[in-house]
Amino acid sequence: MEIGNLNHSRSRSYKIAVLGLGHVGLPTAVGFSSLGWDVIGADEDAAKVELIRAGRVPFFEPGLDDLLHRTLASGRFQATSDVTQAIRAATVVFICVGTPQREDGAADLSQIEAISRAIGRNLNGYKLVVEKSTVPAITASWIQRTIQRYAALKVAETNGDGNVEGAAEGPESSEADFDVASNPEFLQEGQALENFFEPCRIVIGADSERARTILSELYSGLQRPMVVADVTTAELIKHAANAFLSTKISFINMVADICDAVGADVTRVAEGLGLDPRISPAFLKAGIGFGGYCFPKDLRAFAHLAEQQGVDCSLLRAVERINTRRVEVFLEKVRNSVWVISGKKLGVLGLAFKPNTDDIREAPSLKIIEALLKEGAELRLHDPWAMPAAKALYPPVAGLITYWESPYEVARGVEALLLLTEWDEYNHLDLGRLRDLMQVPALIDGRNFFSPQEARQARFSYAGMGRRGGGPSLRELAAPGQLWPAAPVGTGVGVDVNG
Ligand code: UDX
Repeated sequence: MEIGNLNHSRSRSYKIAVLGLGHVGLPTAVGFSSLGWDVIGADEDAAKVELIRAGRVPFFEPGLDDLLHRTLASGRFQATSDVTQAIRAATVVFICVGTPQREDGAADLSQIEAISRAIGRNLNGYKLVVEKSTVPAITASWIQRTIQRYAALKVAETNGDGNVEGAAEGPESSEADFDVASNPEFLQEGQALENFFEPCRIVIGADSERARTILSELYSGLQRPMVVADVTTAELIKHAANAFLSTKISFINMVADICDAVGADVTRVAEGLGLDPRISPAFLKAGIGFGGYCFPKDLRAFAHLAEQQGVDCSLLRAVERINTRRVEVFLEKVRNSVWVISGKKLGVLGLAFKPNTDDIREAPSLKIIEALLKEGAELRLHDPWAMPAAKALYPPVAGLITYWESPYEVARGVEALLLLTEWDEYNHLDLGRLRDLMQVPALIDGRNFFSPQEARQARFSYAGMGRRGGGPSLRELAAPGQLWPAAPVGTGVGVDVNG
């Protein structure tokens, strides 16, 4: 399917509103618009809306700028900061607002509730309200109740019936003609448009035929597998999907620690696992753990829901624990390489929680930087896109934390280079040139990104995550002029004493 082909004829025209124009809402809005639907996107953040109206995407997402330009030019997409106007203008209202995490790990649904109230007050005809934000199961029933309540209140106010309270608890207002459905998104940052236009499945959760029909029609142009279920089941699919993918990552990270302990190579283990279609190779990359706006908070929210329902979810808690410990596992490798961290100058390649995004939310890199600064290291940092966001959190301080436009500048004079995000551009680094700039050629690869053999050939000491066999052998170590004393057995760092 050609991404963003705008020439689609429609049998029935539903005006779509997308409320919340962030990493989920904006790709969704321009995606539907390029499928030929008229879309009004709304966000309370007027500055963000101004940017979008000017054709600028307020975050880095490959290809989105271009599609935004085309959909704005086509007139099928408009952006407004007047949420009420968008609600009133539309038949289908997608809720794409944030569901950040509360202190107790549960999802904070206050933005969802606020939007539900606004919809209840603006039910000027039938509306299909669609949850697209990631929410715990049963949220739709709360949205339903809230819309009903505020619709009834509105009627009571309009009729000047003083008994507003009664109305709130009273029967449904006759005008409250709406459905609430669930249509979870599975967009990955950095691949959002690909995920929108070529989803591996579309999940539709609806309890009425009308809602099912409308949602199926909205996506009919994509011709992709559809999972049609009741609303609560659809809500659960999203949390379960993210929790399962997180479990896969923590599983392979647990295996990586075993590999470090026994002298095996997790990348080959993952290869051996992934060839089994029941396992598949996806999400079996060991490293410093998962981060981002979704996995950590969705895992906690899912566990919170399970515990609230009295379900044993110790598996999810273990997934979280293994993930949290990745930082310490990585720091141990740094210590094994540079010994005392305090006073060491270290270079860091990659700040974003993963490549192809400028997003640093819950990025493992931040936790590692925090710990290294606490231990007294001086850090030289680089990331192709995420430095502005990182500078907001860690402003540059000369001699302590500095940002560089080139990875080679990061390497200048450092005693170790830490790879934290596997940006493709680091694939093309000249290891020899890097080594010559460094004080000590030690590479600690938090994403198993580099080839240990190449690192060795470039005379680096190399430490990966569960990847023994990367460093020089005992014989090479014993060779005259070798830089490094042998590391103790089982450290898993570059020096392979077993040869
Ligand atoms: C995720 C889900 O993939 C997506 O379906 C959902 O809609 C939103 O959450 P995203 O947060 O963009 O998407 O990131 P994803 O590509 O899934 O990566 C999540 C984290 O896992 C990243 O920190 C990544 O580095 C890490 N990861 C991923 C691994 O450590 N190993 C892997 O093999 C894959």
